[in-house]
Amino acid sequence: MTGGVKDRYGVMGYPVSHSRSPVIHRLFALQTGQDIQYELLQVAPDKLETAVLQFGRTGGKGLNITVPHKRDVVQLVDDMSERASNAGAVNTLVFRDSGIFGDNTDGVGFMRDLEINQGLTIRRAKILILGAGGATRGLMGPLLEAEPESIVIANRTYPKARSLADQFASQGPVDACRFSDVTSLPVYDLVINATSAGVKGEVPPYPEAAIHPHTVCYDLSYGLTPTPFSAWAAKHRAAKSLMGWGMLVEQAAESFYIWRGIRPDTAPVLKQLTVSIT
Ligand code: ATR
Repeated sequence: MTGGVKDRYGVMGYPVSHSRSPVIHRLFALQTGQDIQYELLQVAPDKLETAVLQFGRTGGKGLNITVPHKRDVVQLVDDMSERASNAGAVNTLVFRDSGIFGDNTDGVGFMRDLEINQGLTIRRAKILILGAGGATRGLMGPLLEAEPESIVIANRTYPKARSLADQFASQGPVDACRFSDVTSLPVYDLVINATSAGVKGEVPPYPEAAIHPHTVCYDLSYGLTPTPFSAWAAKHRAAKSLMGWGMLVEQAAESFYIWRGIRPDTAPVLKQLTVSIT
């Protein structure tokens, strides 16, 4: 901070009004005594480049990048982390004197929520991921690093699942199938919904065979009421049906750490955000 002007941060998306990032970062700033400003920036895809460059030119320090810009913004960075490069997507920008640095905190946020907040063990787990888009791509590297026994990617459009599985096959045991090909064996420990169906209000034919009494289901989406997938998982008696609130807060904490060098305590923020969930 210089001359009483707060360091500026923000989240760029389209639409973005629903984003909880301003609330989360304000709570982090309060908790850690950081005097920052965090803005909600609605930017249409054709204005992304101008808006990002302008934010940096006018002294902005960092941005979160959300739907639908995470892939496009890769073209605008001067340098990026290995995890962003692996994910093919950037969700965090840092404006440095040397240029724009891109990072991706989604994968680490997801893993922290799974392993630390939820106490799940990924090593030797059998995992099914529904969906084969950007969200799935971002999780593959971090999940494979944790050495699961297997990952199957099931997608409505089979060739997309096949191509993603092939891309990661050198890093671990990954396979692909259609929703209708999911069977009750292997017995999945973890089923992740990484489709964007729920966000669009659609309910695909999620494969019931995937759920056993000890299966944990995790929807990357979140809401103050159960998402369609989490309601479906609970109805089919999954051991646990989780929504992506923890991932949201953990990825934000990692961005905050990159920007400010201080790691906020996520638990009270998560509690405050989800307090109205019954
Ligand atoms: P994201 O970045 O959120 O992953 P994306 O790259 O557009 O978004 O991918 C969306 C994923 O959700 C895809 O796997 C998509 O399936 P298709 O490849 O068949 O399009 C999946 N998806 C979206 N709506 C769906 C629906 N109604 N039923 C099943 N899958 C759906």
